[in-house]
Formats: sequence, C-alpha cells, structure tokens
Amino acid sequence: MKIEKVQNKHLGSELAAELFIEKSNRFPKNPVGLATGETMRGVYEELAKRNFKPEFEDAFALDEYQGISKESPNSYWSELDQNFSQLLSWGGKLHVPGRDDYQGEHGLGDFENAISEKGPISVQLLGLGTNGHVAFNEPGSEFDSLTRVIELHSETRLANSRFFSSIDEVPKSAVTQGLATIAKAESLLLLVFGDAKKEALVSALENPSENTPLASLLDHKDLTLITDLEI
Ligand code: GLP
Repeated sequence: MKIEKVQNKHLGSELAAELFIEKSNRFPKNPVGLATGETMRGVYEELAKRNFKPEFEDAFALDEYQGISKESPNSYWSELDQNFSQLLSWGGKLHVPGRDDYQGEHGLGDFENAISEKGPISVQLLGLGTNGHVAFNEPGSEFDSLTRVIELHSETRLANSRFFSSIDEVPKSAVTQGLATIAKAESLLLLVFGDAKKEALVSALENPSENTPLASLLDHKDLTLITDLEI
C-alpha cells in the first residue's frame, strides 16, 4: 500500500482527482468504479475543475440503498448522476447494483458478470465508514464476498442520517459490491479524512480481522491511501 499523507481534505481531493485521471488513462476504455458520500464530492468537483473528459463508456457504483426509488435525491443512483455524470457532462452508462438491469435474484449475479465482461475496472474510488464499512461491507463481511444484499448496522444508519430528514427515513438494507468484487479492480484509491475515521483506519491496519473489512484490501497490488490523519 502506498500512503499519501496530505495536509487537509482539499489537498487530498486534488491529489485523488489527479491520480484518478492518471490511473483511468492507463486503461482509457475500461470502466471506472465510483463511490458516494461527502468525501467523494470533493473529488468529482476537482475532476470537473480539471475539465476531465472521460473516454470510458461505463462506470460501476459500489453500492445502493434498498427501499427508496431510483429518482429519490438520496439514492446513490441520483447522487452519482448529479455529482459525476451531470457535473462532467458525461453521457456514459452508470451501472448501479440493485437498479435497472440489476434487480431481483438474478440481478446481482448479472451485475458481477457485467463487471467481468466490461472490466477490469481501471480505478476504484473508496471511502471508509466511521464503523469501518467499505462500500456497504459492514464489519463481519467475509473477505471473499461478492455483490449481495446487506443489512445496515445502526452506526451506519446513524452516520448517514445526516443526508436524510430523519433517521427513520434511512433504509435498513442496501446492495453492495463484495470485498472480493472490489479487489478485482486494477487500482484502488482509498480516501480517509477527519479524526472520526481514525479509529476505523487504525484498527484495519493494526488489528486486521473480519471486523475490519478494509483489511481484505490491504494486500491489493495497487492500493493508494490518501489521508490527512497521522497513522
Ligand atoms: C456511505 C457509503 C460508503 C462511504 C461512506 C463514507 O456509507 N456507502 O461507500 O465510504 O458512506 O462516506 P462519507 O464520505 O460521507 O464519510
């Protein structure tokens, strides 16, 4: 793992955008892997500032809530449509697990197959939840897990309730790429900013186990951690 220590989130977002462009340009026609959450918004804004014009035609999302419509402003489909596709004026296809062609029992397998057929993903963006979740792989997720439905932990629902009008509106389950799915990408860019994430990051580095999903990715051939934390 390569560690890029930055002074603050803003500088981290700039570096992440530069590395995202560099790594996706190594395989310009291959799909990229997108993530959601506050951390990622800064990266997409930096891509737009650099006038990044993707050559790839497909992008795969890490995860999606269940129980809210695709058009809901809180769906990850909406978030990526607005903060990535529209922001960059990109007309490619967003593949979101649990949406469109990827619904129902066969949909999750079809999502895995689509990654294999169009992939490998050139570069996958990743964040970290305060309880250590990666995408929506909660602590306890198996390291060889694939795309599946998962019950969200109460800490995750509480952390993400800031995007909803009340915690009761936060879905109780989601669809997520598995840890083994994520590991197939050529490069991983992991962004961890702010003291609230320190414990989760340090636990994965120092006490790796199934309770620290990030630990499954630490031996990836091209993982870059961008962080403002002293670790
Ligand atoms: C959500 C997403 C994760 C993301 C996490 C952290 O739960 N499913 O993929 O890493 O939020 O988000 P934030 O950047 O808002 O802290």
